[in-house]
Amino acid sequence: MPEAALRTEPAYQALEDERDKLSAISLSSLLSDPTRFECFSRQQHDVVLDFSRNLITEDTLGLLMGLAERRALEAWRDRLFGGQPVNHTEGRAALHMALRAPQDSEWLVSGIDVMPEVVAERERMLSLASSIRDGSLAGVSGSFTDVVNIGIGGSDLGLVMVNEALSASAGDGGPSVHFVSNIDGCALADLLQRLDPGRTLFVVCSKSFSTLETQLNAEQAREWVVRSLGREACGRHFVAISTNDLAMDDFGIAKDLRLRLWDWVGGRYSLWSSVGLAIAVGIGTDAFRELLAGAATMDDHFCRAEFADNWPVLLGLIGIWNQNFLGSTSHIVLPYTERLASLPAYLQQLDMESNGKSVDRSGSTVDFPTGCPLWGGSGSNAQHSFFQLLHQGTAKFSMDFVAPVKSTGAPPNQQLHSLANMLAQADVFAHGYSEAQAIADLTESGLAADVAKQMAPHRVHAGGRPSNVLLMRHLNPHNLGFLLAMYEHKVFVQSVVWGINPFDQWGVQLGKQVASETHRALSRGHGTASLPGIAAIIRDWGTA
Ligand code: F6P
Repeated sequence: MPEAALRTEPAYQALEDERDKLSAISLSSLLSDPTRFECFSRQQHDVVLDFSRNLITEDTLGLLMGLAERRALEAWRDRLFGGQPVNHTEGRAALHMALRAPQDSEWLVSGIDVMPEVVAERERMLSLASSIRDGSLAGVSGSFTDVVNIGIGGSDLGLVMVNEALSASAGDGGPSVHFVSNIDGCALADLLQRLDPGRTLFVVCSKSFSTLETQLNAEQAREWVVRSLGREACGRHFVAISTNDLAMDDFGIAKDLRLRLWDWVGGRYSLWSSVGLAIAVGIGTDAFRELLAGAATMDDHFCRAEFADNWPVLLGLIGIWNQNFLGSTSHIVLPYTERLASLPAYLQQLDMESNGKSVDRSGSTVDFPTGCPLWGGSGSNAQHSFFQLLHQGTAKFSMDFVAPVKSTGAPPNQQLHSLANMLAQADVFAHGYSEAQAIADLTESGLAADVAKQMAPHRVHAGGRPSNVLLMRHLNPHNLGFLLAMYEHKVFVQSVVWGINPFDQWGVQLGKQVASETHRALSRGHGTASLPGIAAIIRDWGTA
Protein backbone atom coordinates (compact mmCIF):
# COMPACT_ATOMS: atom_id res chain seq x y z
CA MET A 1 0.00 0.00 0.00
CA PRO A 2 1.37 3.49 -0.80
CA GLU A 3 2.47 5.54 2.20
CA ALA A 4 4.41 8.74 2.80
CA ALA A 5 5.54 9.35 -0.76
CA LEU A 6 2.32 11.18 -1.56
CA ARG A 7 4.03 14.22 -3.01
CA THR A 8 6.10 12.18 -5.41
CA GLU A 9 3.02 10.46 -6.87
CA PRO A 10 2.64 11.54 -10.51
CA ALA A 11 -1.07 12.11 -9.73
CA TYR A 12 -0.10 14.57 -6.98
CA GLN A 13 2.29 16.39 -9.27
CA ALA A 14 -0.39 16.56 -11.96
CA LEU A 15 -2.62 18.27 -9.41
CA GLU A 16 0.12 20.80 -8.65
CA ASP A 17 0.25 21.60 -12.37
CA GLU A 18 -3.55 21.85 -12.39
CA ARG A 19 -3.37 24.34 -9.49
CA ASP A 20 -0.89 26.47 -11.44
CA LYS A 21 -3.13 26.34 -14.50
CA LEU A 22 -6.20 27.39 -12.52
CA SER A 23 -4.41 30.21 -10.74
CA ALA A 24 -5.24 32.44 -13.68
CA ILE A 25 -8.96 31.66 -13.43
CA SER A 26 -11.37 33.08 -10.85
CA LEU A 27 -14.04 31.08 -9.06
CA SER A 28 -16.46 33.80 -10.09
CA SER A 29 -15.75 33.21 -13.77
CA LEU A 30 -16.25 29.44 -13.37
CA LEU A 31 -19.62 30.16 -11.78
CA SER A 32 -20.77 32.09 -14.83
CA ASP A 33 -21.21 28.77 -16.66
CA PRO A 34 -25.00 28.12 -16.55
CA THR A 35 -24.43 24.34 -16.39
CA ARG A 36 -22.14 24.62 -13.37
CA PHE A 37 -24.71 23.59 -10.75
CA GLU A 38 -25.82 20.63 -12.85
CA CYS A 39 -22.24 19.40 -13.26
CA PHE A 40 -21.05 20.04 -9.72
CA SER A 41 -23.98 18.99 -7.56
CA ARG A 42 -25.52 15.65 -6.66
CA GLN A 43 -28.86 14.73 -5.11
CA GLN A 44 -29.86 11.63 -3.14
CA HIS A 45 -33.25 11.17 -1.56
CA ASP A 46 -33.93 14.39 0.33
CA VAL A 47 -30.41 15.77 0.38
CA VAL A 48 -28.48 17.89 -2.11
CA LEU A 49 -24.72 18.38 -2.21
CA ASP A 50 -23.70 21.49 -4.14
CA PHE A 51 -19.93 21.68 -4.55
CA SER A 52 -20.00 24.11 -7.47
CA ARG A 53 -18.41 26.93 -5.47
CA ASN A 54 -14.96 25.34 -5.46
CA LEU A 55 -12.10 26.22 -7.79
CA ILE A 56 -12.42 22.98 -9.71
CA THR A 57 -13.19 21.82 -13.23
CA GLU A 58 -14.07 18.36 -14.52
CA ASP A 59 -10.34 17.93 -15.17
CA THR A 60 -9.50 18.74 -11.54
CA LEU A 61 -12.03 16.18 -10.34
CA GLY A 62 -10.63 13.58 -12.72
CA LEU A 63 -7.12 14.17 -11.38
CA LEU A 64 -8.33 13.97 -7.77
CA MET A 65 -10.07 10.66 -8.51
CA GLY A 66 -6.82 9.46 -10.08
CA LEU A 67 -4.97 10.33 -6.88
CA ALA A 68 -7.54 8.39 -4.83
CA GLU A 69 -7.04 5.37 -7.08
CA ARG A 70 -3.27 5.59 -6.73
CA ARG A 71 -3.66 5.68 -2.96
CA ALA A 72 -5.71 2.45 -3.18
CA LEU A 73 -8.90 3.94 -1.76
CA GLU A 74 -11.04 1.05 -2.95
CA ALA A 75 -8.80 -1.52 -1.29
CA TRP A 76 -8.74 0.45 1.97
CA ARG A 77 -12.51 0.80 1.90
CA ASP A 78 -12.78 -2.98 1.48
CA ARG A 79 -10.44 -3.50 4.44
CA LEU A 80 -12.52 -1.11 6.55
CA PHE A 81 -15.83 -2.75 5.69
CA GLY A 82 -14.26 -6.21 5.89
CA GLY A 83 -13.49 -5.72 9.60
CA GLN A 84 -9.73 -5.85 9.12
CA PRO A 85 -7.51 -4.20 11.75
CA VAL A 86 -7.26 -0.85 9.94
CA ASN A 87 -6.44 0.72 13.31
CA HIS A 88 -3.08 -1.00 13.28
CA THR A 89 -1.52 0.83 16.25
CA GLU A 90 -4.19 -0.66 18.50
CA GLY A 91 -4.67 -3.86 16.48
CA ARG A 92 -8.37 -3.17 15.99
CA ALA A 93 -11.01 -3.04 13.30
CA ALA A 94 -13.18 0.07 12.98
CA LEU A 95 -16.54 -1.43 12.21
CA HIS A 96 -18.96 1.25 13.42
CA MET A 97 -20.97 0.63 10.22
CA ALA A 98 -22.12 -2.70 11.72
CA LEU A 99 -23.86 -0.77 14.50
CA ARG A 100 -26.34 0.73 12.06
CA ALA A 101 -26.55 -2.19 9.66
CA PRO A 102 -29.79 -4.07 9.01
CA GLN A 103 -30.47 -7.00 11.30
CA ASP A 104 -30.05 -9.66 8.61
CA SER A 105 -26.65 -8.47 7.34
CA GLU A 106 -23.32 -10.07 8.12
CA TRP A 107 -20.33 -8.11 9.46
CA LEU A 108 -17.13 -9.94 10.22
CA VAL A 109 -14.42 -9.07 12.72
CA SER A 110 -11.54 -11.56 12.60
CA GLY A 111 -13.81 -13.89 10.63
CA ILE A 112 -16.61 -13.85 13.23
CA ASP A 113 -20.03 -12.37 12.44
CA VAL A 114 -20.66 -9.68 15.06
CA MET A 115 -24.26 -8.99 14.02
CA PRO A 116 -26.02 -11.35 16.45
CA GLU A 117 -24.35 -9.54 19.37
CA VAL A 118 -24.85 -6.11 17.81
CA VAL A 119 -28.56 -6.68 17.26
CA ALA A 120 -29.08 -8.17 20.71
CA GLU A 121 -27.38 -5.20 22.36
CA ARG A 122 -29.22 -2.71 20.14
CA GLU A 123 -32.54 -4.23 21.17
CA ARG A 124 -31.56 -4.24 24.88
CA MET A 125 -30.61 -0.59 24.65
CA LEU A 126 -33.80 0.40 22.83
CA SER A 127 -35.94 -1.54 25.26
CA LEU A 128 -34.17 0.16 28.18
CA ALA A 129 -34.75 3.55 26.50
CA SER A 130 -38.46 2.73 26.07
CA SER A 131 -38.83 1.71 29.68
CA ILE A 132 -37.17 4.96 30.80
CA ARG A 133 -39.44 6.96 28.48
CA ASP A 134 -42.69 5.24 29.44
CA GLY A 135 -41.91 5.12 33.15
CA SER A 136 -41.81 1.32 33.49
CA LEU A 137 -38.26 1.75 34.80
CA ALA A 138 -38.56 4.14 37.71
CA GLY A 139 -36.55 5.70 40.50
CA VAL A 140 -37.34 5.52 44.19
CA SER A 141 -39.86 8.38 43.92
CA GLY A 142 -41.47 7.43 40.62
CA SER A 143 -40.86 7.62 36.87
CA PHE A 144 -37.74 9.45 35.78
CA THR A 145 -38.29 13.14 35.00
CA ASP A 146 -34.60 13.72 34.21
CA VAL A 147 -31.82 11.68 32.66
CA VAL A 148 -28.25 12.93 32.99
CA ASN A 149 -25.63 11.55 30.60
CA ILE A 150 -22.16 11.71 32.16
CA GLY A 151 -19.50 11.29 29.47
CA ILE A 152 -16.97 13.24 27.45
CA GLY A 153 -15.66 13.34 23.86
CA GLY A 154 -17.28 10.56 21.87
CA SER A 155 -19.43 9.68 24.88
CA ASP A 156 -20.93 13.18 24.85
CA LEU A 157 -20.55 15.35 21.73
CA GLY A 158 -22.59 13.29 19.26
CA LEU A 159 -25.30 12.70 21.84
CA VAL A 160 -25.64 16.40 22.60
CA MET A 161 -25.69 17.31 18.93
CA VAL A 162 -28.28 14.71 17.86
CA ASN A 163 -30.55 15.52 20.81
CA GLU A 164 -30.44 19.23 20.06
CA ALA A 165 -31.10 18.53 16.41
CA LEU A 166 -34.04 16.17 16.81
CA SER A 167 -35.69 16.40 20.20
CA ALA A 168 -38.07 19.17 19.04
CA SER A 169 -39.70 16.68 16.67
CA ALA A 170 -39.83 13.90 19.28
CA GLY A 171 -43.02 15.18 20.86
CA ASP A 172 -43.46 14.91 24.60
CA GLY A 173 -43.50 11.83 26.72
CA GLY A 174 -39.91 11.28 27.74
CA PRO A 175 -37.88 12.72 30.55
CA SER A 176 -35.65 15.77 30.05
CA VAL A 177 -32.18 14.72 28.95
CA HIS A 178 -29.09 16.59 30.18
CA PHE A 179 -25.39 16.23 29.41
CA VAL A 180 -22.42 16.93 31.65
CA SER A 181 -18.83 16.40 30.65
CA ASN A 182 -16.29 18.89 31.95
CA ILE A 183 -13.72 18.02 34.61
CA ASP A 184 -14.43 21.05 36.82
CA GLY A 185 -17.84 19.65 37.75
CA CYS A 186 -19.67 23.02 37.59
CA ALA A 187 -22.24 21.89 35.05
CA LEU A 188 -23.27 18.91 37.17
CA ALA A 189 -23.24 20.87 40.43
CA ASP A 190 -25.53 23.52 38.91
CA LEU A 191 -27.83 20.90 37.42
CA LEU A 192 -28.19 18.92 40.65
CA GLN A 193 -29.61 22.00 42.37
CA ARG A 194 -32.64 21.77 40.08
CA LEU A 195 -33.19 17.99 40.03
CA ASP A 196 -35.24 15.64 42.18
CA PRO A 197 -32.89 12.83 43.25
CA GLY A 198 -35.70 10.30 43.51
CA ARG A 199 -36.66 10.86 39.87
CA THR A 200 -33.25 11.33 38.25
CA LEU A 201 -31.38 8.65 36.31
CA PHE A 202 -27.64 8.96 35.60
CA VAL A 203 -26.12 7.33 32.54
CA VAL A 204 -22.39 6.84 33.01
CA CYS A 205 -21.23 6.64 29.45
CA SER A 206 -17.58 5.69 29.09
CA LYS A 207 -16.11 3.07 26.81
CA SER A 208 -13.10 2.72 29.11
CA PHE A 209 -14.84 3.63 32.39
CA SER A 210 -11.53 5.19 33.37
CA THR A 211 -11.78 8.68 31.88
CA LEU A 212 -11.05 11.06 34.74
CA GLU A 213 -13.69 13.66 33.84
CA THR A 214 -16.41 11.02 33.75
CA GLN A 215 -15.20 9.34 36.95
CA LEU A 216 -15.21 12.62 38.86
CA ASN A 217 -18.66 13.62 37.66
CA ALA A 218 -20.05 10.13 38.28
CA GLU A 219 -18.65 10.24 41.84
CA GLN A 220 -20.23 13.66 42.39
CA ALA A 221 -23.57 12.25 41.18
CA ARG A 222 -23.26 9.14 43.37
CA GLU A 223 -22.48 11.20 46.48
CA TRP A 224 -25.60 13.27 45.78
CA VAL A 225 -27.76 10.17 45.41
CA VAL A 226 -26.31 8.56 48.54
CA ARG A 227 -26.76 11.79 50.52
CA SER A 228 -30.35 12.23 49.36
CA LEU A 229 -31.64 8.66 49.08
CA GLY A 230 -29.17 6.33 50.76
CA ARG A 231 -26.60 3.94 49.26
CA GLU A 232 -29.12 1.23 48.28
CA ALA A 233 -30.82 3.67 45.87
CA CYS A 234 -27.71 3.83 43.63
CA GLY A 235 -28.57 0.52 41.99
CA ARG A 236 -31.79 2.05 40.64
CA HIS A 237 -30.40 5.43 39.66
CA PHE A 238 -27.32 4.56 37.60
CA VAL A 239 -27.04 2.95 34.19
CA ALA A 240 -23.65 2.47 32.51
CA ILE A 241 -22.33 1.85 29.02
CA SER A 242 -18.81 0.49 28.93
CA THR A 243 -16.47 -2.29 27.89
CA ASN A 244 -15.06 -2.39 31.43
CA ASP A 245 -17.07 -4.76 33.63
CA LEU A 246 -14.68 -4.66 36.59
CA ALA A 247 -14.91 -0.89 36.85
CA MET A 248 -18.71 -1.07 36.62
CA ASP A 249 -18.64 -3.65 39.47
CA ASP A 250 -16.50 -1.31 41.56
CA PHE A 251 -18.80 1.62 40.93
CA GLY A 252 -21.86 -0.44 41.86
CA ILE A 253 -23.74 -0.48 38.57
CA ALA A 254 -26.55 -3.06 38.70
CA LYS A 255 -25.92 -5.97 36.31
CA ASP A 256 -29.21 -5.46 34.43
CA LEU A 257 -28.49 -1.74 33.92
CA ARG A 258 -25.23 -2.24 32.01
CA LEU A 259 -24.93 -1.93 28.27
CA ARG A 260 -21.89 -3.06 26.40
CA LEU A 261 -19.90 -2.13 23.35
CA TRP A 262 -16.85 -3.54 21.63
CA ASP A 263 -13.25 -2.52 21.20
CA TRP A 264 -13.81 -2.19 17.43
CA VAL A 265 -16.07 0.84 18.10
CA GLY A 266 -14.01 4.03 18.43
CA GLY A 267 -15.36 6.62 20.89
CA ARG A 268 -15.99 9.26 18.21
CA TYR A 269 -17.81 6.67 16.07
CA SER A 270 -19.95 5.28 18.89
CA LEU A 271 -23.20 7.26 18.94
CA TRP A 272 -24.79 4.47 16.87
CA SER A 273 -24.19 1.93 19.65
CA SER A 274 -25.53 1.63 23.20
CA VAL A 275 -23.63 4.87 23.79
CA GLY A 276 -26.64 6.43 22.04
CA LEU A 277 -28.95 5.54 24.95
CA ALA A 278 -29.39 9.23 25.83
CA ILE A 279 -30.33 9.88 22.20
CA ALA A 280 -32.92 7.11 22.17
CA VAL A 281 -34.35 8.46 25.45
CA GLY A 282 -34.39 12.00 24.06
CA ILE A 283 -35.80 11.41 20.58
CA GLY A 284 -37.57 8.06 20.98
CA THR A 285 -36.67 4.60 19.75
CA ASP A 286 -38.36 4.83 16.33
CA ALA A 287 -36.41 7.99 15.58
CA PHE A 288 -33.21 6.29 16.75
CA ARG A 289 -33.83 3.42 14.32
CA GLU A 290 -34.38 5.98 11.56
CA LEU A 291 -31.09 7.66 12.45
CA LEU A 292 -29.36 4.28 12.04
CA ALA A 293 -31.18 3.64 8.75
CA GLY A 294 -30.05 7.00 7.35
CA ALA A 295 -26.44 6.21 8.24
CA ALA A 296 -26.75 2.72 6.72
CA THR A 297 -27.99 4.32 3.48
CA MET A 298 -24.81 6.38 3.37
CA ASP A 299 -22.65 3.30 4.14
CA ASP A 300 -24.21 1.53 1.20
CA HIS A 301 -23.67 4.56 -1.03
CA PHE A 302 -20.03 4.88 0.04
CA CYS A 303 -19.46 1.21 -0.76
CA ARG A 304 -21.16 1.14 -4.11
CA ALA A 305 -21.16 4.53 -5.83
CA GLU A 306 -18.56 5.35 -8.46
CA PHE A 307 -15.98 7.80 -7.13
CA ALA A 308 -17.35 10.61 -9.31
CA ASP A 309 -20.75 10.31 -7.62
CA ASN A 310 -19.58 9.22 -4.21
CA TRP A 311 -20.24 12.00 -1.69
CA PRO A 312 -17.59 11.12 0.92
CA VAL A 313 -15.06 10.66 -1.88
CA LEU A 314 -16.01 13.97 -3.52
CA LEU A 315 -15.96 15.91 -0.24
CA GLY A 316 -12.76 14.25 0.98
CA LEU A 317 -10.92 14.95 -2.25
CA ILE A 318 -12.20 18.51 -2.60
CA GLY A 319 -11.06 19.09 0.99
CA ILE A 320 -7.60 17.83 0.06
CA TRP A 321 -7.59 20.03 -3.05
CA ASN A 322 -8.41 23.10 -0.97
CA GLN A 323 -5.91 22.29 1.73
CA ASN A 324 -2.94 20.58 0.11
CA PHE A 325 -3.00 22.44 -3.19
CA LEU A 326 -4.76 25.79 -2.64
CA GLY A 327 -3.43 26.44 0.87
CA SER A 328 -6.57 26.46 3.06
CA THR A 329 -5.60 26.24 6.69
CA SER A 330 -9.00 25.70 8.23
CA HIS A 331 -12.36 24.22 7.40
CA ILE A 332 -15.39 26.02 8.75
CA VAL A 333 -18.77 24.35 9.29
CA LEU A 334 -21.76 26.67 9.21
CA PRO A 335 -25.15 25.13 10.01
CA TYR A 336 -27.98 27.53 9.15
CA THR A 337 -30.30 26.20 11.82
CA GLU A 338 -29.88 26.62 15.54
CA ARG A 339 -30.80 22.96 15.92
CA LEU A 340 -27.41 22.02 14.45
CA ALA A 341 -25.44 24.57 16.46
CA SER A 342 -23.39 21.75 18.03
CA LEU A 343 -22.51 20.14 14.69
CA PRO A 344 -19.11 21.93 14.47
CA ALA A 345 -18.14 20.73 17.97
CA TYR A 346 -19.08 17.15 17.10
CA LEU A 347 -17.20 17.29 13.78
CA GLN A 348 -14.19 18.77 15.53
CA GLN A 349 -13.63 15.55 17.43
CA LEU A 350 -14.57 13.34 14.49
CA ASP A 351 -12.22 15.06 12.08
CA MET A 352 -9.40 16.42 14.22
CA GLU A 353 -9.02 13.45 16.58
CA SER A 354 -9.01 11.20 13.51
CA ASN A 355 -6.79 13.01 11.05
CA GLY A 356 -4.65 15.13 13.37
CA LYS A 357 -1.58 12.99 12.67
CA SER A 358 1.86 13.82 11.34
CA VAL A 359 3.26 10.36 10.70
CA ASP A 360 2.01 7.90 8.13
CA ARG A 361 1.02 4.32 8.84
CA SER A 362 4.64 3.21 8.80
CA GLY A 363 5.64 5.90 11.30
CA SER A 364 7.45 8.19 8.83
CA THR A 365 6.89 11.91 9.18
CA VAL A 366 4.73 13.29 6.39
CA ASP A 367 5.82 16.31 4.35
CA PHE A 368 2.36 17.64 3.53
CA PRO A 369 -0.56 19.01 5.57
CA THR A 370 -2.96 16.40 7.01
CA GLY A 371 -6.07 17.00 9.17
CA CYS A 372 -7.37 20.50 8.75
CA PRO A 373 -8.34 22.55 11.82
CA LEU A 374 -12.14 22.52 11.85
CA TRP A 375 -14.35 25.04 13.58
CA GLY A 376 -17.58 26.88 12.97
CA GLY A 377 -20.81 28.16 14.39
CA SER A 378 -24.45 28.52 13.51
CA GLY A 379 -25.56 31.03 10.92
CA SER A 380 -26.74 33.71 11.09
CA ASN A 381 -25.12 34.18 14.55
CA ALA A 382 -21.69 33.60 13.02
CA GLN A 383 -22.26 36.42 10.53
CA HIS A 384 -22.24 38.79 13.48
CA SER A 385 -19.08 37.42 15.03
CA PHE A 386 -16.35 35.95 12.83
CA PHE A 387 -17.59 36.51 9.25
CA GLN A 388 -15.80 39.85 8.99
CA LEU A 389 -12.46 38.04 9.06
CA LEU A 390 -13.71 35.44 6.58
CA HIS A 391 -14.80 38.09 4.09
CA GLN A 392 -11.99 40.60 4.40
CA GLY A 393 -9.20 38.98 6.44
CA THR A 394 -6.08 37.30 5.12
CA ALA A 395 -6.75 33.69 6.21
CA LYS A 396 -7.33 30.91 3.67
CA PHE A 397 -10.10 28.43 4.44
CA SER A 398 -12.93 26.35 3.03
CA MET A 399 -16.51 26.04 4.29
CA ASP A 400 -19.50 23.72 4.50
CA PHE A 401 -22.91 25.36 4.72
CA VAL A 402 -25.53 22.94 6.08
CA ALA A 403 -29.26 23.60 6.32
CA PRO A 404 -32.72 22.06 6.23
CA VAL A 405 -35.35 23.70 4.02
CA LYS A 406 -38.12 22.88 6.48
CA SER A 407 -37.44 23.55 10.13
CA THR A 408 -39.49 21.80 12.80
CA GLY A 409 -41.02 24.20 15.26
CA ALA A 410 -39.75 27.46 13.73
CA PRO A 411 -41.92 29.86 11.70
CA PRO A 412 -41.37 28.96 7.99
CA ASN A 413 -40.84 32.62 7.08
CA GLN A 414 -37.90 32.80 9.48
CA GLN A 415 -36.32 29.66 8.05
CA LEU A 416 -36.64 31.25 4.59
CA HIS A 417 -34.68 34.23 5.89
CA SER A 418 -32.09 31.83 7.26
CA LEU A 419 -31.77 30.07 3.88
CA ALA A 420 -31.57 33.41 2.05
CA ASN A 421 -28.72 34.43 4.32
CA MET A 422 -26.88 31.17 3.79
CA LEU A 423 -27.11 31.33 -0.01
CA ALA A 424 -26.20 35.02 -0.03
CA GLN A 425 -23.11 34.32 2.05
CA ALA A 426 -22.02 31.39 -0.14
CA ASP A 427 -22.41 33.66 -3.14
CA VAL A 428 -20.55 36.62 -1.68
CA PHE A 429 -17.72 34.36 -0.50
CA ALA A 430 -17.39 33.03 -4.04
CA HIS A 431 -17.82 36.21 -6.10
CA GLY A 432 -16.47 38.84 -3.76
CA TYR A 433 -16.87 42.56 -4.39
CA SER A 434 -14.26 44.34 -6.46
CA GLU A 435 -12.75 47.79 -5.97
CA ALA A 436 -14.28 48.93 -9.26
CA GLN A 437 -17.74 47.86 -8.07
CA ALA A 438 -17.17 49.62 -4.75
CA ILE A 439 -16.11 52.86 -6.47
CA ALA A 440 -19.12 52.71 -8.78
CA ASP A 441 -21.55 52.09 -5.91
CA LEU A 442 -20.03 54.78 -3.68
CA THR A 443 -20.09 57.32 -6.48
CA GLU A 444 -23.68 56.45 -7.26
CA SER A 445 -24.58 56.96 -3.61
CA GLY A 446 -23.38 60.56 -3.95
CA LEU A 447 -19.76 60.50 -2.79
CA ALA A 448 -17.23 62.64 -4.60
CA ALA A 449 -14.99 60.60 -6.92
CA ASP A 450 -11.80 61.12 -4.85
CA VAL A 451 -13.56 60.15 -1.59
CA ALA A 452 -15.11 57.10 -3.26
CA LYS A 453 -11.63 56.04 -4.39
CA GLN A 454 -10.25 56.42 -0.86
CA MET A 455 -13.11 54.49 0.73
CA ALA A 456 -13.33 51.70 -1.84
CA PRO A 457 -10.43 49.48 -0.63
CA HIS A 458 -12.17 49.16 2.75
CA ARG A 459 -15.22 47.71 1.01
CA VAL A 460 -13.45 45.16 -1.16
CA HIS A 461 -14.26 41.46 -0.62
CA ALA A 462 -11.63 39.38 -2.38
CA GLY A 463 -14.01 36.46 -3.04
CA GLY A 464 -12.76 33.11 -4.29
CA ARG A 465 -13.55 31.54 -0.90
CA PRO A 466 -14.53 27.90 -1.60
CA SER A 467 -17.62 26.31 -0.07
CA ASN A 468 -20.00 23.34 -0.26
CA VAL A 469 -23.71 23.55 0.45
CA LEU A 470 -25.52 20.58 1.99
CA LEU A 471 -29.24 21.11 1.82
CA MET A 472 -31.84 18.74 3.32
CA ARG A 473 -35.57 18.82 2.81
CA HIS A 474 -36.10 18.21 6.57
CA LEU A 475 -33.80 17.90 9.52
CA ASN A 476 -35.15 14.44 10.37
CA PRO A 477 -33.40 11.38 11.89
CA HIS A 478 -32.83 9.70 8.53
CA ASN A 479 -31.22 12.74 6.92
CA LEU A 480 -29.12 13.46 9.99
CA GLY A 481 -27.84 9.86 10.10
CA PHE A 482 -27.02 10.11 6.40
CA LEU A 483 -25.11 13.37 6.93
CA LEU A 484 -23.09 12.16 9.92
CA ALA A 485 -22.06 8.91 8.22
CA MET A 486 -21.06 10.97 5.19
CA TYR A 487 -18.70 13.02 7.34
CA GLU A 488 -17.28 9.85 8.96
CA HIS A 489 -16.44 8.43 5.55
CA LYS A 490 -15.11 11.75 4.26
CA VAL A 491 -12.59 11.69 7.13
CA PHE A 492 -11.66 8.11 6.20
CA VAL A 493 -11.17 9.00 2.51
CA GLN A 494 -8.78 11.80 3.47
CA SER A 495 -6.85 9.52 5.82
CA VAL A 496 -6.33 7.03 2.99
CA VAL A 497 -5.01 9.66 0.59
CA TRP A 498 -2.70 11.00 3.29
CA GLY A 499 -1.68 7.45 4.29
CA ILE A 500 -2.42 7.96 8.01
CA ASN A 501 -4.34 5.95 10.63
CA PRO A 502 -7.56 7.87 11.47
CA PHE A 503 -8.68 5.49 14.21
CA ASP A 504 -6.17 6.00 17.02
CA GLN A 505 -5.68 9.11 19.22
CA TRP A 506 -2.36 8.80 21.02
CA GLY A 507 -2.12 12.58 21.08
CA VAL A 508 -4.62 12.83 23.91
CA GLN A 509 -2.72 10.48 26.25
CA LEU A 510 0.42 12.39 27.22
CA GLY A 511 -1.45 15.41 28.55
CA LYS A 512 -3.67 13.13 30.68
CA GLN A 513 -0.58 11.43 32.15
CA VAL A 514 1.18 14.71 32.95
CA ALA A 515 -2.06 16.13 34.41
CA SER A 516 -2.25 13.22 36.81
CA GLU A 517 1.36 13.80 37.97
CA THR A 518 0.66 17.53 38.22
CA HIS A 519 -2.47 16.86 40.26
CA ARG A 520 -0.49 14.65 42.66
CA ALA A 521 2.07 17.43 43.14
CA LEU A 522 -0.58 20.13 43.60
CA SER A 523 -2.50 18.00 46.11
CA ARG A 524 0.65 17.61 48.19
CA GLY A 525 1.16 21.38 48.04
CA HIS A 526 4.27 21.04 45.88
CA GLY A 527 5.25 23.01 42.82
CA THR A 528 5.86 21.18 39.59
CA ALA A 529 9.15 21.20 37.72
CA SER A 530 7.70 22.96 34.71
CA LEU A 531 5.37 25.41 36.46
CA PRO A 532 6.92 26.26 39.84
CA GLY A 533 5.60 29.83 40.04
CA ILE A 534 2.00 29.16 39.03
CA ALA A 535 1.84 26.02 41.16
CA ALA A 536 2.90 28.02 44.22
CA ILE A 537 0.14 30.56 43.59
CA ILE A 538 -2.46 27.77 43.30
CA ARG A 539 -1.17 26.30 46.59
CA ASP A 540 -1.40 29.68 48.32
CA TRP A 541 -4.83 30.53 47.02
CA GLY A 542 -6.29 26.97 47.41
CA THR A 543 -9.25 25.70 45.35
CA ALA A 544 -11.66 25.36 48.25
O1 F6P B 1 -10.41 12.28 24.10
C1 F6P B 1 -9.89 10.99 24.19
C2 F6P B 1 -10.97 9.96 24.27
O2 F6P B 1 -10.36 8.72 24.41
C3 F6P B 1 -11.92 9.96 23.09
O3 F6P B 1 -11.44 9.30 22.00
C4 F6P B 1 -13.13 9.37 23.70
O4 F6P B 1 -14.26 9.63 22.92
C5 F6P B 1 -13.15 10.08 25.02
O5 F6P B 1 -11.80 10.16 25.40
C6 F6P B 1 -13.97 9.42 26.10
O6 F6P B 1 -13.54 8.11 26.37
P1 F6P B 1 -14.40 7.10 27.23
O7 F6P B 1 -15.69 6.85 26.49
O8 F6P B 1 -13.58 5.87 27.35
O9 F6P B 1 -14.67 7.74 28.55
